[in-house]
Order: sequence, then structure tokens, then C-alpha cells
Amino acid sequence: MINIKNRKVFIETYGCQMNEYDTELVKAILSKEGYSFVQDELAADIVMLNTCAIREHAHRKVYGRIHEIKHNRNGAPVKFGLLGCMATNLRSELLETQNLKIDFIAGPDSYKRLPDLIAQCYETEAKHYDLTLSEYETYSDIYPQHKKGVNAWLAVSRGCNNFCTFCVVPYTRGRERSRSPENVVEEVQRLAAEGFKQVTLLGQNVNSYRHEEADFAHLLEKVSEVKGIERIRFTSPHPKDFPRHLLKVIATNPKVCKQVHLPLQAGNNRILELMNRSYTKEEFLDLVAETRSTIPGVALSTDIIVGFCSETNAEFEDTIDVLQRVEFDWAFTFKYSERKQTMASRKFPDDVSDETKKERIMRLTEIQKEITLKKNQAHIGETYEVLMEEGAPTNPPDISVGRADNNKLIIIPKNGHVPGDFVDIRITGATPHALKGTPARS
Ligand code: 5AD
Ligand code: SF4
Repeated sequence: MINIKNRKVFIETYGCQMNEYDTELVKAILSKEGYSFVQDELAADIVMLNTCAIREHAHRKVYGRIHEIKHNRNGAPVKFGLLGCMATNLRSELLETQNLKIDFIAGPDSYKRLPDLIAQCYETEAKHYDLTLSEYETYSDIYPQHKKGVNAWLAVSRGCNNFCTFCVVPYTRGRERSRSPENVVEEVQRLAAEGFKQVTLLGQNVNSYRHEEADFAHLLEKVSEVKGIERIRFTSPHPKDFPRHLLKVIATNPKVCKQVHLPLQAGNNRILELMNRSYTKEEFLDLVAETRSTIPGVALSTDIIVGFCSETNAEFEDTIDVLQRVEFDWAFTFKYSERKQTMASRKFPDDVSDETKKERIMRLTEIQKEITLKKNQAHIGETYEVLMEEGAPTNPPDISVGRADNNKLIIIPKNGHVPGDFVDIRITGATPHALKGTPARS
């Protein structure tokens, strides 16, 4: 076999935080085999894109990028690999399209096979792939090569059993499986030893975590016992999995951040049923009320899909109604995008025009922007303990950024605070995107 060790790898990640985490796993798997990683796609022998399939836009971006990278490399030899959700979603399309020159493909449960797949690429010209989905793989024996920073991602479960009719994840990532609490805690201890201050627990349906008798509330308690980790966040939860005792843990455990993401998706009961969301508008509003009364000061965020199959204007008004009644701190809004394999793509026509979807999303965004601004302005005069972060490379040089416990972005004038510091900040201003403040004098 040709010696492929010491080859340079460039890897780019799309999609959710789970994919970010998977890229860290892939780096650990390949580093152990002697591969090194480069930041420059032109300097690499092997180029990998870790892809997303959640909306059509995600696919288009990846196809565009494949052509761009090939063009930039101007014929220089390279092995090209596709990882992640698009790989399992578009299986036959990717394998059969001849003009899309991809050398290897690995689905989310096949990353341990990557060293073999890459080696095979140097032996024969064929496309080498492994798209098997596993009921057991949790990568609990691999310690990821974490990106340096204040926060580390940590997948506590993989896959999803919910089968929301719009969602591709159960097909791209398979059935839900959880790691043991002991194994998760071990990883958190290593993170603390590496200097991380915050850990974000990940799962496609993170709060349905279960390992034998341990549920998600138990896991949060165990993780919070790790010294050195000061903040715990989690994403992405489902509204159906917030039992009272979990809300209590969030409320009372000082390390668990007071921010809850409650993906509404739609506010109309017929649409919610078509989506297979397992709650009604009224039940959702009850959960919001219970969350707010149990966790004073909690920040609430949501995800909303507009223009799901057969959604009428009147039904869309129910979503607006929930938005206005709840007043989420922020919301992510999406136009429905039909995905291959899903129940919706098989059973319901994607019959709301793109124009209508656009109008609805614009209306939602406008309303939410005002609510977010109002909510942010209400913080003016308050003081928050802020965990300072690295900030984007494009940020102006005279500011530093951090986050409050409620996950709101806080901007302060630069004055020597470094990422990882906790600083008390008094809020002096607000925009729809962030809060501005200055260090509070004690
Ligand atoms: N079309 C549009 N948005 C979608 N989401 C998931 N699947 C689709 C789809 N097919 C949104 C949901 C989910 C978020 C991560 O992405 O709102 O909560
Ligand atoms: Fe995209 Fe969902 Fe896959 Fe994450 S799990 S990469 S959001 S399709």
C-alpha cells in the first residue's frame, strides 16, 4: 500500500454545531494516523467538505464550493471527499453523477472508516464510500481535537427518532443513541483540564437524552459537578421533552445557563399535526408559561418554518399570534424547503409559492425584530456577568465581546479583558443584535 501518512488535509464544515463537533472527531481520527491539517485549500493533498442537508440552500452552497475549489486548484492533484448529512441524503445522486468528481464519501456514522477510504483512493480510481448508519456508534472512544476557545461542543447523543415530517435528520443521521453519563463527564473533565470555561451539550434532540436510568436532567447535574467548567448550554431541544424536574434543574443549578430554545415551527394546530410535532398551540403556550414561572429571567428563543405544505394565510396568522403572545428573545425563521426522503416530500405537495413564503418570512422577521429590540432595551441599566469570547476576526479593533448567561451578545469597549474572563457589565445600550455595556464599578 502507498504510504499516505503525512498528507495534508483541508476540511470545511457546513451546517449545525453537531457538524462542527464531527469535524473535530474526524481531525482526531486522522491525526492519529499521521495526517496533518492545513488552513489553505491550495496547500492540501486531500480536501473534505463536511456537509449539511437541512435545506436546499445547504446543498447548493456545497456544489458551488466543490466547483470553486477545483477551479482554484487549477488541475493540481487532490483527493476530494464529502462527509456528513448530504452524503447520506443524496447517496445515489452523488455516487452516480459522473461529472461531480468526488473520490470518497463518508456518512456521519462512518468516520472511523476514513483512513481506509482515503487509502483506497490512492490505490484505485473508483469512488470509495461508506454510508452505513449505525444504531450504536457514538464515537465515545474518541476524544475530539477541539477548536481552541472558551466554549467546547460535546455530542451527548446522535441521531433522532422524532420524524417531524419536514426533517431530513432521521434519514441522514439515523436512530437516536446516547452516550453514558460517565463517558460524557470524562470528556468534560478533559475539557476543563484544557482550559475550556463553557461546554455546550449537543444532540439532534438533546433533551430526550436517556442512558439506562439517566435522563437529561441527571446528565446536566453530573456535568455541573466538573470543576473548572463554569457554564453549561445545550442545543437543540424539543418542546415535548421538558419535564418539570428538568426546568427545575435549569432554574436552580447555577452553572446551567438561563436560556431555553423552544422550536415552535408553526403556531397552527392543523399544521403542527401535519408536521408531526406532537404538541398543540395551547400546549406550547402552557410550556412557555411554565418555563417562565420556573426560571425567572429566562431568555427564550425559537425556530419557525413558514410556508409548510398547504399552510393558508389564516393558519400563518396563528404563528404570528404565538410570536406576539410569547415575545421570544430571538427567533430563527426559515422558508419550508422540501427534502428528499422525508414524510412530507412523500405525502404532501410543496404547494405554497416561493413568493408567499418570502412575504411570510419578511413579515415574521419584521415583527420579531421589533420584539427583540424591545426585549434588549429592557436590559438597559441591568448588570450581567459576562464571559468574554474571542469575537469575529472582522470585529472593529476597539471592541471586545462576550455573552451573558442568557446568551445575549454583549459588546464593550476594549480594555484588557481576554477571552475566558468573567466581567460584570452594566448595559448601556441595545440593538436588535446585541447589548452594549461598560464594566460595572463595584
Ligand atoms: N425546511 C425549512 N426549515 C427546516 N428546518 C428543518 N428542516 C427544514 C426544512 N425542510 C428548520 C427547523 C429546525 C431548524 C434547525 O431548521 O426550524 O428547527
Ligand atoms: Fe444539517 Fe441537520 Fe445534518 Fe446538522 S444534523 S448538518 S443541521 S442536516
